[in-house]
Amino acid sequence: MRGARRSYDRNDNANKPTSSFQDKTKSNNNFAPRNPTINRNIEIRKIAEERATKRFKNPKEYNLAEKKGSLSKNRITTSKREYKLTLSKALTDDVMEGRERSLASVIRARLKEKKNQNSDDKKIETKKIIREINIPDTINIKELSNRMAIQTSSIIKHLLGMGVVATINHTIDADTAEYLVKEFGNIPIREKKPDLSIQKLVNKESRSLKQRSPIVTVMGHVDHGKTSLLDALRKTDVVAQEYGGITQHIGAYKIKTEEGQNITFIDTPGHAAFTEMRARGSKVTDIVILVVAADDGVKPQTIEAIKHSKAAKVPIIVAINKCDLPNADPQKVKNQLLEYELIAEELSGDTLFTEVSAKTKKNLDKLKKNIILQSDLLDLKADFDANAIGVILESRIDQGKGPVSTVLVTNGSLKKGDFFVSGNTWGKIRAMINDEGQNIELAIPSTPVEILGMNNSAFAGDDFAVVATEEKAKEINNYRVEHSKSKQTPLISANRESAFDNASAPKELPIIIKSDVHGSSEALENAIEKIQHDEVSPKIILSNIGVITETDVTLAKSTNAILIGFNVRPNKEAKKLAETYKITLKFFNIIYEVLDFINDSLSGLLKPDVKEEIVGSAEIQEIFKVSKVGKVAGSKVIDGEIVNNLNARLIRDGNILYTGSIDSIFREKNAAKQVAAGLECGITLKDFADFKEKDVIEVYKIIETERRI
Ligand code: GTP
Ligand code: MG
Repeated sequence: MRGARRSYDRNDNANKPTSSFQDKTKSNNNFAPRNPTINRNIEIRKIAEERATKRFKNPKEYNLAEKKGSLSKNRITTSKREYKLTLSKALTDDVMEGRERSLASVIRARLKEKKNQNSDDKKIETKKIIREINIPDTINIKELSNRMAIQTSSIIKHLLGMGVVATINHTIDADTAEYLVKEFGNIPIREKKPDLSIQKLVNKESRSLKQRSPIVTVMGHVDHGKTSLLDALRKTDVVAQEYGGITQHIGAYKIKTEEGQNITFIDTPGHAAFTEMRARGSKVTDIVILVVAADDGVKPQTIEAIKHSKAAKVPIIVAINKCDLPNADPQKVKNQLLEYELIAEELSGDTLFTEVSAKTKKNLDKLKKNIILQSDLLDLKADFDANAIGVILESRIDQGKGPVSTVLVTNGSLKKGDFFVSGNTWGKIRAMINDEGQNIELAIPSTPVEILGMNNSAFAGDDFAVVATEEKAKEINNYRVEHSKSKQTPLISANRESAFDNASAPKELPIIIKSDVHGSSEALENAIEKIQHDEVSPKIILSNIGVITETDVTLAKSTNAILIGFNVRPNKEAKKLAETYKITLKFFNIIYEVLDFINDSLSGLLKPDVKEEIVGSAEIQEIFKVSKVGKVAGSKVIDGEIVNNLNARLIRDGNILYTGSIDSIFREKNAAKQVAAGLECGITLKDFADFKEKDVIEVYKIIETERRI
């Protein structure tokens, strides 16, 4: 307290200088009459103060007075000696104004005025340069400002005015860029795209059109017999070679009817995971054959196939399969399909229905006839002399041959040696293999072929077009690669994310998938991403095609991921590295087995369900001491049983006083393992002896049940 008081005093003193200063001025005032200079100064200051107050109180009047020549008055009232410049005079500008302008200052002002006038003239003379600005698909603000030769801040400010907050590195689309270029008075010129629009090429080349064979896609629910039907039509046995008996690739085949007409068939998978593949199948096709098993009827993927076909505006022919089965009910299928506007002719609709059996080959000819009938209606034509264009149905990496893709030629003819672009890659046709495994030199429209000679693997669904020269192919490819860069999603490192691990966020299972063909990796990716749970979730770090390499293993190591090989194996080095790093490396060839494995792994990440089960309880009736043992609770078992070593808690007046376990049980001085309801016993608890009568000892078990997602 005393210290505080002292410091307070000190502070008090510190405030004193003001008063001591006042004292000083006071004493100065006392001396004032004896000092005439000071006296005069005070007088001048007084005059200045008076004037300032006057001006402050009534500025208008003051200004008027000033205009009327109060300056000269000033000069009259203040004698030359009084006019000596003092500090206070310098601070009050009105006194300063009292001075006359020097000749030099007038000259300076005139010169300045003249100069300003000149620069104004110059300004009018300079014309804004109107520039032609090239605008690509996307451009960042910095680049746009460079091209327009204006400051970036001007563009940012302009965008801000439009309510768009942008930075120097922000990328804007061509439309916005075009608008901005116009706003700044320049002429926008959209950069020419050396892109290939397949449609354009078709129109340009459509000179000598000839009949082409129809492209027919077989779609339907899993196991309804699509592949079997195609096998029956082609007299092959693809089903027998399929893993798990399900189709997991798009297959494309060409067959010849007895009348000599060709039909190109595309087989699609029916498993739920292959939506993308089905969608792709429906897009490249002229006709869809909807296979519905007569014993199973319309199922989810049947409906999905109808939707895809309708979206692609492709006519549907219904093949009711498995009509050989005793429980086959084709009529039921027809009735079910009414709901989807697929009405059979006998029900006064116009959809072609064929009741077939892949097993007994019943009505296969009729099915083929129906296809030809429908394709005649469509009047399918193509230019056989044009440069080929088409679609990639599937792509894979062959260890010996490199990237291999299945192309369906939709127009023009594809020749060995042709240069082409496809997706983000290009190449030269080194070899072509048809669906029967023969090397061919020419592929006419509606032909599916496997091509070798791609520089990189293309993606299933990518476009494909032959170009005149290698230079053109390179040019288009460079452009495409450049422009797709911005669209690529960055690979997110699980490690970096885990650095910000959030307890409430779901636990993630990082996964790397390598598969044989792009369609499979896509289907796997989609199916895995659909697995959702509040607490755990799969996270695909990478999904790619080709053998498992050391790079994949290293990535798996750094991201803590499990590595899945779908129809692919690791190379020697990768295998060794995986062993060294102890990476989980799993191989599958059936999609649902992968999904089962992921489900199992995710379930392993889940915390088990913990449940408590009350085994029994006892009430303490008296407490006694036993030598060597200590305090023992003489109790009566109320319900259940009291079991030695089990978890126990002590409850007094409804409050839990102790949680631990039973240390020992005595029944008439003998140690017991358990004591049933209604009996009396002595109980000791581990590390607790503060018993009281009427306390309840509750014995319970913790039951952990494994959870599955
Ligand atoms: P996904 O490609 O996996 O969607 O199946 P899918 O539609 O291609 O069916 P798939 O051809 O693999 O046939 C499935 C099962 O049905 C096989 O066991 C075939 O033997 C059987 N099956 C196919 N067609 C017929 C048929 O006409 N009659 C009978 N009885 N069985 C058939
Ligand atoms: Mg199949």
